[in-house]
Parts: sequence; C-alpha cells; structure tokens
Amino acid sequence: MRIAAYHRYGAPEVVGVEQRELPEPGPGEFRVRVHAASVGAADAAGRAGSPWFARLAFGLRRPRNAVLGSDFAGVVDAVGTGVTRFAVGDRVFGATGVDGGAHAEAVVVSQDGAVVLLPDGVSVAAAVAICDGAMTALPFLRDGGLVRRGSRVLVNGASGAVGSAAVRLAVHLGAEVTAVCGPAHVELVAGLGASRVIDYTREDPMRAGAPGAPFDVVFDAVGTSSFRRARAVLRRHGRYLTTVPTWPIMFQHLTSRLGRRRAVIMFTGLRSDEAKRPDLDLLAALAATGGFAPVVDRVLPLDAIARAHAVVDTGHKTGTVVITPVPELQEA
Ligand SMILES: NC(=O)c1ccc[n+]([C@@H]2O[C@H](COP(=O)([O-])OP(=O)(O)OC[C@H]3O[C@@H](n4cnc5c(N)ncnc54)[C@H](OP(=O)(O)O)[C@@H]3O)[C@@H](O)[C@H]2O)c1
Repeated sequence: MRIAAYHRYGAPEVVGVEQRELPEPGPGEFRVRVHAASVGAADAAGRAGSPWFARLAFGLRRPRNAVLGSDFAGVVDAVGTGVTRFAVGDRVFGATGVDGGAHAEAVVVSQDGAVVLLPDGVSVAAAVAICDGAMTALPFLRDGGLVRRGSRVLVNGASGAVGSAAVRLAVHLGAEVTAVCGPAHVELVAGLGASRVIDYTREDPMRAGAPGAPFDVVFDAVGTSSFRRARAVLRRHGRYLTTVPTWPIMFQHLTSRLGRRRAVIMFTGLRSDEAKRPDLDLLAALAATGGFAPVVDRVLPLDAIARAHAVVDTGHKTGTVVITPVPELQEA
C-alpha cells in the first residue's frame, strides 16, 4: 500500500509517498481502507516538531511514527479474531490520536478505539472534517462553555476547522453567535449562521463595546487573543475558552475558578475513546439529518501530501484539508 511518510522534522517537503506492506489486523482489530483523512494543525505540528511540546507526543529528536494522520473515514476490508462491533464492508470513521497512521491507503484500528459506523448520506470528507473540527468544538462549547439556548457566544478564528464547527454547533445549540475572521472569509462565515461577523483587520473584537458584547462565552479557536483582553467583552460569570496552550492560560485555568470570570483550556484529543465514541455518533447523526455540515477546504490526492501540509501551514485554511487515495474523490 502507499503511505505518506516522514523521517525527520521539517518543512512540508519532508513528507513523501512510500510503499509499505499492507498491515494485518490482530485480535480485536480491524483494517480500514482509507477513503479520506484530514491533514490538520496537529499533523503540521507533528511534521515540523514545533511548537516544542509537540515533540513530547511525536518524539523528542526524531518522529516516533513515520505516518501521520489521526482522522480517517473508509470501508472495513479485514477483521481480526474477536471483532464483534464491525464487519467487512462497513463504512466507518474515527480517530487514532497520536498513534497516527491514517495518511495511508489502509489503517488498522482497535474495535475499542474512537471509531463508529458512518451513516449513509455523510461523505467521507465530511466525516474526517467532523473529527478535525467538531470533535473539538463540541466539548469546548458544551462542557467548557456550558453553551445553551440564548447564550451569547463570540468565536474567534471562525473560518478554521475548529472555529467554523464552533459557529455551526453554537447556532445549533440556540446561541447568538458573533464570529471573527479575516476579510477573505467574511461571506463564508456569515453563511455558517453567525448573527454578525467581525473582520479582525478592521475592528478589535475584544474592545469594550464591540459588536455583540457582552458575551457569556468567548471561544478563541486559534489562540490569537488572551483571557486578559477577553475580560473586556465577557459578562460577569462569563467563560473564556481557548484551544491553544500557553503558560498564562494554564495558570489562569486554575486560578480563575475563584474569580468572577473563568478561563478554560481543554485537550480534546486526550479524552478517552469511550468519551469520544458517543460524540462521533452524535455529530454523524446531526450531519446525516442536516443539523450540521462541516466545512471542507479542499480534497487532495495522497500524492499531494506536501501541498496539503503547506496549505495547513498558511494558517488561513477554511475548515478541513482532506487527502484521499481514492481517485474519484480527488480534486485537481
Ligand atoms: N486544545 C485542543 O484540544 C485542540 C484541539 C484541536 C485543535 N487545537 C488547536 O486549535 C488551533 C486551531 O486549529 P484549526 O485546525 O481550527 O486551525 P485552522 O483551521 O488552521 O485555523 C485557521 C483559521 O485561523 C484564522 N486566523 C488566523 N489568524 C487569525 C487572527 N489573528 N484572528 C482571528 N482568526 C485568525 C484564519 O482566519 P482567516 O483566514 O479568515 O484570517 C483561518 O481561517 C490549532 O492551534 C490547533 O493546534 C487544539
């Protein structure tokens, strides 16, 4: 089978296509023919070995695993002994986490992993976009922000994978959403259901009296703000959420419990597979019934893996970059 592999940290070109034996599933495992995989922020960090803490997960001096890619969608083509949850021919999707391996024509996963059946009507590209964006946005909004009908929510980085999913899910939860993005994506973000869109190059969304303020929740999906700045637009007892770890936010996460406004950092990829599975099912069901549509930036062939990484590195992708080894799904 073909795999996208890398053996040292560096620029997108360190990843190239190689051949490897088709892996066989062991007891309790099954093999998925990968029809789509996402190339996301974690893959780019794992490839670059930067920021430094990425090396704690991917290998201190050189990459521990040659094949990146957590989020996959495809069809089961072999099952090991003792597998009861899945059968050959099932459409499935899920995430392997830091083990990676999804940037390949096939990946072997445990039936106890973060993997579920993919309902008809949800494309494989949409499925991996759910893993890439919504599987982070949902726990942040629901568990970290306690977002509910009538909540006033600001989403910063609203055109990215996590941010675009956050806008759509917050709207679905009944919140009134103000979304922040750059000038090129104002129209796209307005189409996600936000009540108002702030172009961060023209207006500071964190200044007192900014449109939509005060907010119950400020969700910074790309880490360009801070709890200190967000206080100006947060209501009393409001919550500031961010996906990007910094020393101040780690400290504020602990100390703000005693204050009038909370700062929250979460690590959604580190949740247990048992916690992830119901959310995968919930989001897939929502997508199948039209309640949620993830944003896909583009679908590229596996051979264009370096280009996919380069798009992620721009910091301005819209939603999820998808790679596929399946010719019918590929774009130019
Ligand atoms: N803590 C966790 O559990 C967790 C989980 C998943 C991801 N993450 C992290 O979350 C971050 C976001 O991931 P992602 O995949 O959503 O990123 P992404 O798709 O690469 O986000 C790109 C978006 O960021 C926006 N952006 C860039 N500069 C901005 C600015 N100054 N102000 C507002 N928006 C700006 C861009 O908007 P424009 O192009 O419109 O300018 C672009 O659309 C990454 O750092 C990732 O590592 C953390």
